[in-house]
Amino acid sequence: MSAAENTCALPATAAVAVIGSGTMGAGIAQVAAMAGHPVQLYDSREGAATKAIGEIRATLDRLANKGKISAEQAEGASERLAVAGSLQEMRGARLVVEAIVEQLAAKQELFGKLEAIVDAQCILASNTSSISITHIAATLRHPERLVGMHFFNPVPQMALVEIIRGLASDGAVARCVQDTARAWGKMPVLASSTPGFIVNRLARPYYAEALRVLNECGAQPATIDALLREAGGFRMGPFELMDLIGHDVNFAVTQSVFQAYFNDPRFTPSLIQQELVHAGYLGRKTGRGFYRYDAAADTPAP
Ligand code: NAI
Repeated sequence: MSAAENTCALPATAAVAVIGSGTMGAGIAQVAAMAGHPVQLYDSREGAATKAIGEIRATLDRLANKGKISAEQAEGASERLAVAGSLQEMRGARLVVEAIVEQLAAKQELFGKLEAIVDAQCILASNTSSISITHIAATLRHPERLVGMHFFNPVPQMALVEIIRGLASDGAVARCVQDTARAWGKMPVLASSTPGFIVNRLARPYYAEALRVLNECGAQPATIDALLREAGGFRMGPFELMDLIGHDVNFAVTQSVFQAYFNDPRFTPSLIQQELVHAGYLGRKTGRGFYRYDAAADTPAP
């Protein structure tokens, strides 16, 4: 049997639902639709999913105009995207990927509601950056069907996806999600349900040290970013990366990792980041973080 026949990926025609149409949910919906799935996108914020689908369609058109995908591919993916007006509309989904706010209670509540809607075969996946999959699944009637499917930002461009098994996750479910990620053109990596998994744990000291340098050494974000990009060979400096991720998300991830490691000082959240969150300067998505962004160009203007 060839490797292709050996896959247990979901068939391309299987319905996928994505919950949360922000930075990550929109990217996941785009990737799933481009892989051939009919995709429903739901957001509890009025109008958010409609806006996100409009933006994905504009992106697909731009990719087609640049010759990166064919006009048929753009049109097909656009047509496969639909707004779900309520969670009830997701009852036919084979895979639900959650990309809502980074809070344990919110995720548990959502998956609890979903369990009463979707059928027994439906796989539940969380795009959480840091929260224990074991903990999210603990309040479910069928915790074995929940795994982590952690994409990276921006989803269409980033190949890596961490597949996370909680203590109760079924190995066959994890394999299916892993193969599905591969069928979507991604590079899945298995991780265990430890705080921050692999990448976000490794990345915590990177952000934390950059914030300390800012605090203690007087160097400006633009200087530090330029140094790391131009001298260090990094694709993005830490401040532009935090602005891309969103300070609300990044701060929530640091808090979650800090608490999960019993307040280990290595992971202490930054007061600077807390101030940005309080001010609503969340980064690119609000037009201001460490940098100000021109809405049309989405480029930093310090
Ligand atoms: P975001 O703030 O851009 O979007 C979250 C969306 O979820 C919002 O549109 C919000 O209205 C919606 N939402 C909140 N609660 C909801 C609920 N109960 N039901 C339905 N919709 C709800 O956040 P982002 O950045 O997309 O992050 C989402 C998840 O993905 C978080 O768990 C985050 O940790 C994770 N993540 C974020 C990355 C990033 O770089 N921003 C990278 C990888 C994972």
